Amino acid sequence: MSVSPSGDAGDVDQAPVGRDASPGTLEPAGAAGYGPETLASLTADAAEIVARYPDPRSGLLPMLHLVQSVDGYVSRAGILFCAEQLGITAAEVSAVATFYTQYKRKPNGKYTVGVCTNTLCAVMGGDEIFDELSEHLGVGHDETTDDGAITLERVECNAACDYAPVMMVNWEFFDNQTPQTATEVTDRLRAGEDVAPTRGADTVCSFKQMSRVLAGFPDDRAHEGVGAGEPTLAGLRIARERGATHPGGAAGQDTTPGEDAR
Ligand code: FES
Repeated sequence: MSVSPSGDAGDVDQAPVGRDASPGTLEPAGAAGYGPETLASLTADAAEIVARYPDPRSGLLPMLHLVQSVDGYVSRAGILFCAEQLGITAAEVSAVATFYTQYKRKPNGKYTVGVCTNTLCAVMGGDEIFDELSEHLGVGHDETTDDGAITLERVECNAACDYAPVMMVNWEFFDNQTPQTATEVTDRLRAGEDVAPTRGADTVCSFKQMSRVLAGFPDDRAHEGVGAGEPTLAGLRIARERGATHPGGAAGQDTTPGEDAR
């Protein structure tokens, strides 16, 4: 197994790591950067992830979130660890890690602040919010403030267009934002204050904590906060008022889409 000092995706060779590799070609994940305690903990969590799927390689996406929950990004050690645990090549792991923007290839800030600048949010002020935050924080897209607190991103549609313009902090929703409210949120986060999203859990957790949740290890906060808000439920209310049903609904049943959202 060879990896360049940079550890970039294109620098890893095609040899499988771990149980499927040929003798003598292995670079144990521990040697790649994890201490014994961290490696033991990661290995136990990885086994839990692998057990969820018929084929171990299907666990790669949560596994990448798992290593981000430890390292704060997908590190070289993390890539080797994933490959070793799943019996695939480091190049295969890197190919996936570089495809999805949720996987970070350099140390991420404690909070990822994503401003939606897709069509509806842009029309409603998303571009102004991003520009204001960029100037206020002194960073551009995918850059992190000097104090390591905020990584700023432009993000595509968050499927929350009914609350445009939307900002996300570690994938928690901040709806109907303005340049002023957005900068206030980042100021409070940098000051170490607890900040509540508009919907979702009572407070925003750290990038590492959220990464662990995304790896499939719940933090038991799913019941907190507001779920579906009024703009989302408006469609449901109107559909009911008009007696709408979806095509597959059985006669006489209330099969209005969104029933579970209440
Ligand atoms: S365009 Fe911003 S959430 Fe859809």
